[in-house]
Amino acid sequence: MEYIDLRSDTVTKPTPAMREAMAKAVVGDDVYQDDPTVNQLQELAAARLGKEAGLFVPSGTMGNLAGILAHCGRGDEVIMGQRSHTYLHEGGGISSLGGVHSCQIKEQLDGSLALEAVQAAIRADDIHEPVTRLIEIENTHNACGGVVQTPEYIQRLSDFAHERGLLVHMDGARIFNAAVVQNIEARQLTEPVDSVTFCLSKGLGAPVGSVLCGSAAFIKKALRLRKHLGGGMRQAGIIAAAGIVALETMVDRLSEDHARAGILTDGLRKIPGILLDPGTPATNMIFFTLADSVRLSTAQIETKLEERGILAHSSGPRRFRLVTHFGIDDHGVEQTIAAFQELLQ
Ligand SMILES: Cc1ncc(COP(=O)(O)O)c(C=O)c1O
Repeated sequence: MEYIDLRSDTVTKPTPAMREAMAKAVVGDDVYQDDPTVNQLQELAAARLGKEAGLFVPSGTMGNLAGILAHCGRGDEVIMGQRSHTYLHEGGGISSLGGVHSCQIKEQLDGSLALEAVQAAIRADDIHEPVTRLIEIENTHNACGGVVQTPEYIQRLSDFAHERGLLVHMDGARIFNAAVVQNIEARQLTEPVDSVTFCLSKGLGAPVGSVLCGSAAFIKKALRLRKHLGGGMRQAGIIAAAGIVALETMVDRLSEDHARAGILTDGLRKIPGILLDPGTPATNMIFFTLADSVRLSTAQIETKLEERGILAHSSGPRRFRLVTHFGIDDHGVEQTIAAFQELLQ
């Protein structure tokens, strides 16, 4: 049975063009940096994001980890949002594997970090305190609603950081969603920051992989770290080939996912018991809470949706996050609205 799978855009399957490119990929040993397909992907990714160099990594988690460890030494501190993916969902790897301390500050409603809050978090030059080295931002910001950071904010934050001798890393897992919805090039969002990780395996549909981008000197450090972390992947051109197809053919169509998220939200808005988050959807994620009047629990709703061929993910007690992607068509949107109507009315 083919499910209407709204749990995440990570469930996307490779397209026929990706599978063909994978089958035909010219490969080499990427640990010797001799895989032409990986090298091509890295160059393409760096160019798209306005950076000197790129590094293909198995996951967004490894991209953020290698990136943060390339910027920070043991005992250094990185300032990040308290709902950032790196803080919440990356296993605390920067701390357990890199000895990097994090200072979490509360994001504003739009997912950004207020400069006054960042200023207050920067450590004094005092032997009792860790050394603040880096600020991490997330775009789109997943847990804050798939919300988008603007080029103006990113420039302001980066200038602020650089004036204080700090660096900026962006978790841009869904940077192309952020660019497409603002009708701009991704590089306008990434040029001001020192490094960025983006994912090929989410809305862009590639089966595996992310790319970490930054200066040539930074990527040289990150390459060493990737090897230490076990991320040297040998004939990785087989999967990089799908990443090239993703970058070349799957970016512009993200607007279709945003449009379908809008249509799905309009349908859900009419159903009593669904309390949509203000402003949702900002991109391809819809967040809502169940009103007290709804007798079913989120787990019961998940089960009943599954019986109707729909997979949905509760993102907390009484809360749901639904994510659109290229595996969700108009029929899937209609079916989902109809199922929620049937269950909640
Ligand atoms: C915002 C964000 N950053 C990083 C990641 C980590 O990516 P991966 O699952 O490839 O490790 C995710 C995964 O969902 C994410 O949503």
